[in-house]
Amino acid sequence: MKTLLVGCGSIAQVHAQALHQLGREIAGFADIRPERAQKMADTYGGRAYASLDDMLANEQADVLHICTPHYLHVPMAVAALEKGLHVLMEKPPAIVREEESTLFRAREQAKKQVGVCFQNRYNPATVQALSLLQTGKLGAIKGARAFVTWKRDKPYYTESGWRGAWKTEGGGVLINQSIHTLDLLCYLLGDPVQVSATTANHHLQGVIEVEDSAEAYITFAGGQTALFYATTAHCTDAPVYVQIVCEKGTVTLEGDDMTVTGENGYLTHTHFAPLHHVGKDCWGASHLMLMQDFYDCLEKGKAFGIPYEDACRTLNLMLGIYESARTGQAVPCDR
Ligand SMILES: NC(=O)c1ccc[n+]([C@@H]2O[C@H](COP(=O)([O-])OP(=O)(O)OC[C@H]3O[C@@H](n4cnc5c(N)ncnc54)[C@H](O)[C@@H]3O)[C@@H](O)[C@H]2O)c1
Repeated sequence: MKTLLVGCGSIAQVHAQALHQLGREIAGFADIRPERAQKMADTYGGRAYASLDDMLANEQADVLHICTPHYLHVPMAVAALEKGLHVLMEKPPAIVREEESTLFRAREQAKKQVGVCFQNRYNPATVQALSLLQTGKLGAIKGARAFVTWKRDKPYYTESGWRGAWKTEGGGVLINQSIHTLDLLCYLLGDPVQVSATTANHHLQGVIEVEDSAEAYITFAGGQTALFYATTAHCTDAPVYVQIVCEKGTVTLEGDDMTVTGENGYLTHTHFAPLHHVGKDCWGASHLMLMQDFYDCLEKGKAFGIPYEDACRTLNLMLGIYESARTGQAVPCDR
């Protein structure tokens, strides 16, 4: 499999390192800041390009990793699919509904895989929590609560050139930092059907036009409900908190830790040491497992752990939150 990568900023380092550790060659890097592409090529081998078009025109490849700003994900994925490449893209899979349809059609036509990096599904604590919930030992799931409380200040937005604007980032804390946690809620609780939500900009008025905080009340197909809160106005990056409440106990994920309570005072607490760590702590350490799984899907026909339909489900929940916040109404999120 021949791999290409576009967008050589922060998260690209994680992709390149993980691919390197998996023994996979990267044949080309592209970035509109050519020095960034060149630096990656010097480190990992492969050729450097100043645009995706140029790279696609000059390289016969199988997979494109997309690590660019949000508004470029769908156009770049479509360009790669049209050339017959599989796509592994960073989140989000789209920023508006029209883009979601465009990508859906391009993927159907190309008959290629599109993977989205919701890597927290591969966190050891998540894997354990899901398998425990699936045993049914704790009884049926009644509901959940999830909190993402992180710190992002003015320079994070003003120095990036694309963050903080609807057109280029597509939103704020919801689409960027906490979409992973929406994905985990869907992964653990199933299909969301309705959401009622609000968003606000508390600490970056005049700096960003998008939200720095969001809260939502989500109803799932099985009747369970989830409370969700996300903000980048906190004083630090606290570990993400997800608690699942079942009839006979609770499962709580907090960063790399899992706590389980059950009947008759049952209590366990487990810390899972991250297996592969590159970049910021809050990105987690599971890109490597995600990539291993994605390439196993391409080469061995194994099912990928993040089916495209699941990525769309999470995206629809996120778009539903924005719509509900805009309209002040509860909205369906199962379309
Ligand atoms: N999965 C995660 O945990 C995680 C963590 C961080 C970032 N991300 C995602 O990764 C993506 C990139 O984020 P980042 O923090 O690396 O951003 P970044 O700004 O550090 O990097 C983006 C890179 O894309 C390049 N670029 C911009 N326009 C381009 C174009 N037209 N053609 C080629 N290159 C272009 C920029 O020059 C830059 O080098 C975003 O979608 C973000 O949400 C995911």
